Amino acid sequence: MKVLVIGSGGREHALAWKISQSPRIKRLWVAPGNAGTALDAENVPIAADDIKGLVSFARKEKVDLVVVGPEVPLTLGIVDAMAAEKIRAFGPSRAAAQLEGSKAFCKLTLRQADVPTADYQVFRDADSAMRYIKARYPNENDKAPVVVKADGLASGKGVIVCSRRSDALDAIDRVARKNEFGKAGSQLIIEDRLEGPEASVLVITDGKTILALPPAQDHKAAYDGDKGPNTGGMGAYSPTPVVTDELMETIQDKILVPTIHTMKRNRKPFKGVLYAGLMLTQVGPKVLEYNVRFGDPECQPILMRLKSDLLDILEATVDGKLDEIEPPVWDPRPAICVVMASQGYPGEYENGKEITGLDAAAGIEDVKVFHAGTKLVNGKVLTNGGRVLGVTALGSSLATAKLNAYTAVKAIRWPGAWCRKDISDKAAAYIAATSAES
Ligand code: AMP
Ligand code: GLY
Repeated sequence: MKVLVIGSGGREHALAWKISQSPRIKRLWVAPGNAGTALDAENVPIAADDIKGLVSFARKEKVDLVVVGPEVPLTLGIVDAMAAEKIRAFGPSRAAAQLEGSKAFCKLTLRQADVPTADYQVFRDADSAMRYIKARYPNENDKAPVVVKADGLASGKGVIVCSRRSDALDAIDRVARKNEFGKAGSQLIIEDRLEGPEASVLVITDGKTILALPPAQDHKAAYDGDKGPNTGGMGAYSPTPVVTDELMETIQDKILVPTIHTMKRNRKPFKGVLYAGLMLTQVGPKVLEYNVRFGDPECQPILMRLKSDLLDILEATVDGKLDEIEPPVWDPRPAICVVMASQGYPGEYENGKEITGLDAAAGIEDVKVFHAGTKLVNGKVLTNGGRVLGVTALGSSLATAKLNAYTAVKAIRWPGAWCRKDISDKAAAYIAATSAES
């Protein structure tokens, strides 16, 4: 088979690495890819949002399957554009990708599907949103536990969690007056602030059958102990004790199945990865958001644990035959991914620093270094993004996986490189907290 993976992050490197192991693969391209994907596949210099360019490449090369990593091409309708040329593509249609592309669409679908989520209101302008906050919280010093969200895609940044009335008014100003998130803020959502631990549950679905992936936990905050600004994700591990088998069943029955049914009923059938961002509140799990693609970095430890052929799963999804394949086999060993980032990330940072020690890290058993923001220039691997590498390792226990990953991290260097030192510690903290409760 000839396969084209679209994207250039750690997720896409993990996808390409796993797909390259399929005995059925004849040629594998990544567009545009990075220095890591160049080792496991062939890079093609076409941007992930250049839908025309990608379709024309896929047609010219007679690609059998396109695998779309990021949300932007999905919301631009790449799967529909490929289908129009009879090219099979893994991922949701443009209409179904609105679950991530528009938070107002997502909330409406959740309401129709009777799926638990925070109560909310949608606003089209700052004035009406401010009037709503002032009416609900009449005194200047009132607490206002709400979350203000830009409707559209904002690389995970368009969400402002508020405590006081002044925070909420300021957040509305940023989204709808200062337009900090550009067009994404043309509608805004104000929802009630929920409390509890967070978990990500990812499933693959062909619109009829659901294949649950092992639960993973992301680390969104920049610094240790979940301090500092939000990032795309500084690390992840799988499995996570936060999502027990019993909870997973509840999430499937009460959240995922009704969502997928509602999408079908609304003639926007969902195919691909459905990623539920959840808050585990005292009254049960509630949806914070849906993503319509693999999470990054979650994809990296999850795929590290997959023993079956990923290509079989992706193909069965596109063909609506997920019920016909053998259930995938997972490595029982935990995996963790530590993101190494550029100095300054998630704020401003410089590219072009030479990375050394990659070979030494790759030589460590049970370690795979996935590249995210890297670029190959004259045989040297240079930094080319905020999140640079996803150093991923398996281990007989979470502690061993962590040790393996951080041993590999120590071998890798470039000026200003940094990472969180506590990836996966949430697991132990969660177990300690829940056993103290019971
Ligand atoms: P989202 O992109 O919608 O998942 O939001 C990003 C982050 O904002 C989440 O991971 C949560 O930490 C936080 N968040 C979003 N919605 C809420 C909510 N209703 N209550 C509390 N925190 C939230
Ligand atoms: N790790 C969070 C995301 O992929 O959106």
